[in-house]
Amino acid sequence: MKKGERVQVRFTNKLDEPTSVHWHGIRIDNAMDGVSGLTQDPVQPGGSFVYDFVAPDAGTFWYHAHNKSWNQVARGLYGPLIIDETEPSFERSNDITFVFDDWRLAGEGVLDVASLGSMMEWAHGGRLGNWLTVNGQSRPVSDLVRGQTYRLRLINAANARIFEIDPNRFGATLLGFDGQSFTEPGRLDYAPLMLGPAQRVVLMVVAEKDFTIEEVSGDTPYPMAGFSVLDAESSRLARPAIKLQPNVLPAPDFSKARRIRLEMTGGAMGGMTDITYKGKRLKGDDIRTTRQAWAFNGVANLAEDPFFEARQGETILIETVNRTAWVHAMHVHGHHFQILNRSGSGVDEGKPFRDTFLIGPDQTTEIAFVADNPGKWLFHCHMLEHAAAGMNTWFEVV
Ligand code: C2O
Ligand code: CU
Repeated sequence: MKKGERVQVRFTNKLDEPTSVHWHGIRIDNAMDGVSGLTQDPVQPGGSFVYDFVAPDAGTFWYHAHNKSWNQVARGLYGPLIIDETEPSFERSNDITFVFDDWRLAGEGVLDVASLGSMMEWAHGGRLGNWLTVNGQSRPVSDLVRGQTYRLRLINAANARIFEIDPNRFGATLLGFDGQSFTEPGRLDYAPLMLGPAQRVVLMVVAEKDFTIEEVSGDTPYPMAGFSVLDAESSRLARPAIKLQPNVLPAPDFSKARRIRLEMTGGAMGGMTDITYKGKRLKGDDIRTTRQAWAFNGVANLAEDPFFEARQGETILIETVNRTAWVHAMHVHGHHFQILNRSGSGVDEGKPFRDTFLIGPDQTTEIAFVADNPGKWLFHCHMLEHAAAGMNTWFEVV
């Protein structure tokens, strides 16, 4: 769709369980955010819902189930959602979207559903698959035309896996993160780039010779997607200069920001103690029966009261302190934030707007955003097992 355009999506639930659709990263009207139990009732089997919204930003987004997401997203209930600039910066043929996922297969072509919901994984690093795909394919190869410039949009749709990519290996520059664009292409001066669950990165590459996008976290790089560069008549055409078109977002007023602290606790090796769930202190065996293993400021999952309430237009600064032994991918609904400080991490990527940030063990990250979108919004870990097991809270803009 195009920036500023209104869409209506008639959604019918043909599953035999309730669900809803969340439009990840879109600064959407609250009623259309698709969060079962917070912004809408789950759509029952056979039921339907009309999502009706305007997309304010051009960029790379995705949509996915937001009810039992740990289960439904693992089974593939998601898709990419690309919002073009009013005058697209790239030709459609030069604009490529890749959705990365990892599937847990029990055999060839057989999804391992028996392992869904393992409490062990919920309290550790989440559910990792054993088969990596790009747009549902294994190691696809795309043809590019020599001399032409391409936009590559990478989306991580995996429940818990972080994909590690090194754009310098294939001469790519960065155009933006998540749903937002930089003003100028940038080169990454660190490696690798960690693409956490739900995160997107947009790259630009000039096709000169064959190359491969590899996942570089293992001992040997794993080839995700190949490109074969072919000569064609059109390569003689002059390459038009690329003009990036960043969206205009409200700039946080850091000097007046209201500081809010969020402490992440729990998980394996984290004690898993002192968790309040549905107003009750959990002890011993309760953790097994409630399946809650993580907490934000001592509270697992959605409490009756919001984590905080913001006045519309107020700048909110959330200081997130990770006291767990695990990395997390924190996502703010309805808003895009800037990262102000990242202590305990060597990575400084400037202050781009994004909707999901990674935070490692013992790190503290400060994010700030203008709370300009009225309604009830989630703030949760996008490692979907972590969210289900407690890493989920909400705030309200009034
Ligand atoms: Cu992709 Cu609650 O989000
Ligand atoms: Cu997490």
